[in-house]
Amino acid sequence: MKDYFTRVEEARAYLARRLPFTPEILIILGTGLSGIGGRIQALTTIPYPEIPHFPVSTVESHAGELVVGTLSGKRVAAFRGRFHYYEGYSTREITLPLRVMSLLGARILVVSNAAGGLNLDFRPGDLMLIRDHINLIPENPLRGPNREDWGPRFPDLSQAYSARLRHLFRETARELGETIREGVYVAVPGPSLETPAETRFLRLIGADAVGMSTVPEVIVAVHAGMEVLGISVIANVNDPDHFRPILLEEVIAQAQKAESRLTRLMERFIEKL
Ligand code: HPA
Repeated sequence: MKDYFTRVEEARAYLARRLPFTPEILIILGTGLSGIGGRIQALTTIPYPEIPHFPVSTVESHAGELVVGTLSGKRVAAFRGRFHYYEGYSTREITLPLRVMSLLGARILVVSNAAGGLNLDFRPGDLMLIRDHINLIPENPLRGPNREDWGPRFPDLSQAYSARLRHLFRETARELGETIREGVYVAVPGPSLETPAETRFLRLIGADAVGMSTVPEVIVAVHAGMEVLGISVIANVNDPDHFRPILLEEVIAQAQKAESRLTRLMERFIEKL
C-alpha cells in the first residue's frame, strides 16, 4: 500500500479538481446531525468509493458520501458516513478524509456524536457542548512520522474545543430557548459498552459523557489548525449504583428525538459564523 502522505495527497488532488469551491466549514454528520445534511444546498455529492483512498464502509447500507454546498449562506462540506476504531480501522484511516479537507482549506470542524451520560444531572435527549476530552482509545492518529507542513510534532490541546465557538453556540441556544449542557467527553475503544465498574472509573477521572468516536478527528483537526465545535447527544444516562442495560434501540431513539432541535440550533449557529 502507498504511504499515508501519498494517499492523502492523491485524495486531495482528486477533490481539488472536483469541488466547486473551498469549503470553509466541515461537518461530520454523526448521530443526531444527519438531519442537517438534508438542509445543505448541495452542489456536488461524491460517493466515497470514487475518492482515492477514502475508507469505505462495508457494513452500513451505503458506503458514505461527501456533500459540498451551502448552508445558511456558508460554504460547507459534510461527511455523511463515519468510521469508528471499533470497526477495525486505525485512527489514521478514520481521519484521512478530515486531513484531506483541512489541506483543501476547511478552517472550522463541527462534529456530533451520541454518548452515554455519566453526569447524573443529565437526562436522555440532552445536548452537551464538549468543553474538553479524555482519549482512552489506545491509538493516537498522529503517531508516526510528522509532516511539519501539516502541523507541529507535539500539538497543544489546551484549548482543543474553541471557546469562541462554544460561546457562539450557547448564545444561539439562548436565542432559541434551548438548554445546553457542557462537559468532558471521554472516548473509549468499544464496541462493548461499559460495565458498572468502568462507569464509576470514567466518572472519577472527570468525564461527563462517554462514547466511541470524535476524539481522533478532533486531535487531527487541532493539529491542522482548525477551530472545533463538538456536540454530544446524551442518549442514555449510566448510574453505576443503579445500572441498567444500555439498549441500542433506546440510544438510537433518543438521538433521533434530539435531531430536529440540534438541526435548528446548528443552522442558526452556522449562520452566525
Ligand atoms: N457508552 C458508550 N457509547 C455510547 C453510549 C454509552 O453508554 N451511549 C451511546 N454511545
